[in-house]
Amino acid sequence: MTPPYDLRGRAALVTGATRGIGHAVARQLAAAGARVCVTARDADEVRRTAAELGGVGAAGSVADPDHLTSAVELALSEFGRIDVIVNNAATNLPYGPLMDVDPLSWRKAFTMNVEAPLRLVRCAWHAWMREHGGAVVNVCTEGATHVGPNVGAYGTSKAALLHLTRQLAGELAPKVRVNSVSPGLIRTDMARFVWEPGEEEVAAGLPLGRIGEPEDVARAVVWLVSDAAEWVTGADLLVDGGTRVRAAAGADRAYAVHERLRAHGPVRGDRTRGPN
Ligand SMILES: NC(=O)c1ccc[n+]([C@@H]2O[C@H](COP(=O)([O-])OP(=O)(O)OC[C@H]3O[C@@H](n4cnc5c(N)ncnc54)[C@H](OP(=O)(O)O)[C@@H]3O)[C@@H](O)[C@H]2O)c1
Repeated sequence: MTPPYDLRGRAALVTGATRGIGHAVARQLAAAGARVCVTARDADEVRRTAAELGGVGAAGSVADPDHLTSAVELALSEFGRIDVIVNNAATNLPYGPLMDVDPLSWRKAFTMNVEAPLRLVRCAWHAWMREHGGAVVNVCTEGATHVGPNVGAYGTSKAALLHLTRQLAGELAPKVRVNSVSPGLIRTDMARFVWEPGEEEVAAGLPLGRIGEPEDVARAVVWLVSDAAEWVTGADLLVDGGTRVRAAAGADRAYAVHERLRAHGPVRGDRTRGPN
């Protein structure tokens, strides 16, 4: 299929792009003609993904400010420009009631989910975008505007990212557009503990009748960074299969996603793939 948006001549950096949503985003950006720089912690996976997409890769954690700087430098040295930033890498930990979570893990969630996106945008702004323009998409979550069992740290940090998106959109206009996408439940490793046990039941509670695929989110990201969205900034694009409107769709049952979240007790330690 011919990609609907033409990103030839553009260069993009996608964090957390070796699997899940980030991988689908990087793949669709490359299919639209963009040159891509991918990141993740696993260096072998970064190399494999960069080779698959004909791009470059920087291995490291978004929690490390030096890694973010060198990822931008790599994209600039390889491509001579950096037009698109997709802040996708995140953690859904610490998991559990807020009274029980370790304050250091709480801080780590904010380092990865809020501070890292800001740092990356600052690097790209100073190195390229302030002068030449660009587009940023932050990957938030459908859950960022309401509460849920055991996901207080995740939800609070993503709500902060949503606010950061709008603040940056105002501050960086008109040169740089800054938007977010908010996915509902997507078939990835991070959310496996939610969708895998009884996917049919979760899907039946969604107005559009299925859980999301990484490609559903990637299409929204590609549109937001393309010229087709040239008058869109500070927006949050929900890609949730109707999760927010399910109450009007006759779904009078309990929300299956919250049932799954409630069923999992607190998780100790640093398991960024989630409590599965
Ligand atoms: N899946 C859902 O249902 C859902 C719903 C709403 C929002 N989201 C959001 O969507 C985004 C992507 O989630 P996903 O479900 O696609 O996750 P995923 O399948 O677990 O993939 C995560 C990706 O990020 C990388 N990563 C993890 N920690 C990193 C770190 N510290 N630094 C750099 N890269 C890191 C992983 O590679 P390494 O492990 O090698 O680092 C991997 O490439 C996140 O922002 C998440 O909050 C997901």
